[in-house]
Amino acid sequence: MKSKTALITGSTSGIGRATALMLARRGARVVISGRDARRGAAIVEQIRDEGGEAQFIRAELRDAQSAADLANEATEAAGGSLDILVNNAGMGSGGPTAGTEESTFDAVMATNLKAPFYLVANIAPAMAARGGGAIVNVSTLAAGLALPGLAVYGASKAALDLLTKSWAAEFGPAGVRVNSVSPGPTRTPGAEEGLGEALEQLAAQAPLGFVAHPDDIAAAITFLASDEARFVTGAMLDVNGGRTAV
Ligand SMILES: NC(=O)c1ccc[n+]([C@@H]2O[C@H](COP(=O)([O-])OP(=O)(O)OC[C@H]3O[C@@H](n4cnc5c(N)ncnc54)[C@H](OP(=O)(O)O)[C@@H]3O)[C@@H](O)[C@H]2O)c1
Repeated sequence: MKSKTALITGSTSGIGRATALMLARRGARVVISGRDARRGAAIVEQIRDEGGEAQFIRAELRDAQSAADLANEATEAAGGSLDILVNNAGMGSGGPTAGTEESTFDAVMATNLKAPFYLVANIAPAMAARGGGAIVNVSTLAAGLALPGLAVYGASKAALDLLTKSWAAEFGPAGVRVNSVSPGPTRTPGAEEGLGEALEQLAAQAPLGFVAHPDDIAAAITFLASDEARFVTGAMLDVNGGRTAV
């Protein structure tokens, strides 16, 4: 991945952090992004200590403007062009439909759906103009299964899955590939806080039966972002221990 530049949203933690480290170790120049500047600085330092290239841009993704601002700043930080975009930043929400606050519904949709939409709207045309690029959307097992309490979260990511296909069709003729990785239960700070013991219980329902490490998901994202996947677009890669096979 030498000479490639990548923006990974939500790369101050969990799956995004693991992906940024993996892409940097393969030679990509990475732009780290998230809300927590302290964690952002720590991962930049780790990548630089390993001999890689990284910069942090603090961004709270909540609407079209915040996505456009991040797209512009990241493109500049990457030296003028981005080859890879990983739409990873996301938030969950749990609970029954009745009682879900409108503010929660709006925040989940804004982070998981609207922000990726406007990041792609601002980044993909430049990729297309240069004749290539790779976009990977991070979805979830809950986008295709009715997991209790995850209706809004699952719906936001199910819509993102459709965007993966729409964008593959829209930008494919210009050489831009768009794919999605759909993780099952993965041990990250966010999942441990949000799911607690349910993480193990959920993992136990899949044939492989264990909770994934963030690197297990990062490996799939890295493959789809790489030129090794040059004939793959519009695909949804389940990385869930076989949960959807049974
Ligand atoms: N872990 C799992 O079991 C699992 C399973 C399926 C899908 N996923 C998906 O995988 C992705 C990563 O999740 P994770 O488990 O790695 O979570 P995590 O440890 O909580 O990390 C989430 C990352 O997203 C960033 N983020 C969240 N909301 C943001 C916002 N509004 N603006 C900007 N950045 C924001 C966070 O940044 P700061 O902390 O710096 O604010 C953090 O870097 C999510 O899209 C999630 O839906 C996870």
